Amino acid sequence: MKRDFLHITDFTVEEIHEIFDKAKEVKARFKNREDYKPFKDHSLAMIFAKPSARTRISFETGFFRMGGHALYLSPADIEIGKREAVKDVARVISRYNDMIMARLFKHEHMLELAEYSSVPVVNGLTDKNHPCQVMADIFTILEHRGNLDDMKIVYVGDGNNIVYSWLSLAMRLPFHFVCACPENYKPDMDMVKKVNDAGVSTIEVLHDPKAAVKDADVVYTDVWASMGQKHEIEERMKHFKEFQINDDLMAAAGSNAYFMHCLPAERGKEVTDSVLEAKNSIIFDEAENRMHVQNAIMLKVAGK
Ligand code: CP
Ligand code: NVA
Repeated sequence: MKRDFLHITDFTVEEIHEIFDKAKEVKARFKNREDYKPFKDHSLAMIFAKPSARTRISFETGFFRMGGHALYLSPADIEIGKREAVKDVARVISRYNDMIMARLFKHEHMLELAEYSSVPVVNGLTDKNHPCQVMADIFTILEHRGNLDDMKIVYVGDGNNIVYSWLSLAMRLPFHFVCACPENYKPDMDMVKKVNDAGVSTIEVLHDPKAAVKDADVVYTDVWASMGQKHEIEERMKHFKEFQINDDLMAAAGSNAYFMHCLPAERGKEVTDSVLEAKNSIIFDEAENRMHVQNAIMLKVAGK
């Protein structure tokens, strides 16, 4: 049976820990410039329906350095679901390539792509989640803290695809997750209830960012308008203005809090320059770890 990685819950707790170990190992191999080519003579098709810097560069570079070749297929190349049905794209690509990484709008399209592909599919973001990002985030936190014990992670901003991947992680690893967002921009509360009922983690959805960040180990944010919503930014700014991460909010979190952002950041909107550039901002370690964690994920789904 082929494996896909579409949601963090596609991995068991043990497998998540295996990914951490493998990411650490592969990261060291890359740093030492070892001759490490598990994907020699393999190819990865990367389908993008939305723009990207980190996802494209980290997958392409990671796969290349592990001996394989990655093809970048831009939004105009395939027009998945428009020029050609998702299930046809899935079966055609499966005849040429050993693995697919896709960034799509609709999560249903990701599920269909995986259903009809005979090769592993890795989710590089949909409107519903961004599992590779949050796997890299938690690995980065592990590197910085040395453990994942008694963690309070406070996400301040829109209840979007990133939040759903944090909720998904909370079904597997225990932590206290707080989403501080405007009333109208909450994540799906049925999903929040489901995660709380699972009994692994504690989830709170609050609307006062200052109270929410108290004693946080990590303060995390993302853009107020995601890809596909950029035209809503003026309207959204009215609702989100109290939710900017600035020096005051970081002071309310306390001096132990790391700052994280999946990037790209819209400087001066959801976060100020000073927070992005502060000593406790670990955004570039976070960005780097996308590559190492995704390499571990690709090795896992490929059975290597
Ligand atoms: N964080 C992230 O996925 O960045 P890109 O949109 O640039 O790939
Ligand atoms: N929520 C953002 C994440 C970008 C990496 C978006 O979907 O645009």
